[in-house]
Amino acid sequence: MSVALITGASMGLGEEFARQLAARRMDLLLVARSEDRLQALATELVRKHQIKAHVLACDLSREGAPQQVLQAVTEKKLKVSWLINNAGFGLIGPLERMDANRVREMISLNVSALVELTQLMLPVLRMVGDARVINVASTAAFQPIPQFNVYAATKVFVLHFSEALSEELCGTSIRVLCLCPGPTPTQFHVAAGIDARLFNQGQTARQVVRMGILGSDKGRTVVVCQRVWTNLLIRLAPRIVVRKVAGMIGKLMVNRSMKP
Ligand SMILES: NC(=O)c1ccc[n+]([C@@H]2O[C@H](COP(=O)([O-])OP(=O)(O)OC[C@H]3O[C@@H](n4cnc5c(N)ncnc54)[C@H](OP(=O)(O)O)[C@@H]3O)[C@@H](O)[C@H]2O)c1
Repeated sequence: MSVALITGASMGLGEEFARQLAARRMDLLLVARSEDRLQALATELVRKHQIKAHVLACDLSREGAPQQVLQAVTEKKLKVSWLINNAGFGLIGPLERMDANRVREMISLNVSALVELTQLMLPVLRMVGDARVINVASTAAFQPIPQFNVYAATKVFVLHFSEALSEELCGTSIRVLCLCPGPTPTQFHVAAGIDARLFNQGQTARQVVRMGILGSDKGRTVVVCQRVWTNLLIRLAPRIVVRKVAGMIGKLMVNRSMKP
């Protein structure tokens, strides 16, 4: 049976990908740092859907981690046909006040690990008839966001990388999709340091993941989980206006998150 490799599968959107792909009777390779959570999810989904689920506890922000994932795939002889690059986190606040090590970790996880894992997995994906890559970016990819500066920049990287890769692989058996969720209630706010209430009005993780999987089935390259008019405004407004408005929203997020 074909296998979906999902990074950041211990909670949030990654967990939801695992649930929806298991329901399609795909085997799973679940990757994140929290082994106990991964194991509990794997046990539940194996029981529920009669699939196989493998677990790899691994810090993807560390050098050599993507190679460790490939090694697990090779040793277990897994026929990976879906690669879901979902693991990622954000940090809110002015750059000057951010912990430099956390910033490095964020760039390493959101950007470097995603690129390296994709590059390592392409030869594996080429061996199956219908292969998919889903890279999770964000609606933050569509504008610079003061106070969410580095995170938004990592996500525009993911967006451009995915679109370019999709073109590079056009005509092959591998489809690439970039999924851009808006604020979604998961545990994202914890690492980011943002008030959880700011995530309560968006789509649910289930809706976001369903949009991603359906979008990939339809052969789409980018799926944006955001109101159409917001999208249009961002595209049509002068860049300085977009920047200023994003800056005001960034400040509001910081102020709101600092309240008790
Ligand atoms: N929720 C939102 O509002 C939102 C909006 C736009 C985009 N996104 C993007 O969606 C993706 C998933 O986020 P989420 O909302 O599901 O957040 P989440 O609930 O915090 O889940 C993040 C996942 O990433 C894993 N992870 C974090 N650091 C890791 C590391 N160093 N190595 C391996 N795994 C790591 C976490 O597991 P462990 O802690 O067990 O390692 C967890 O499984 C991210 O790329 C995020 O940027 C989220």
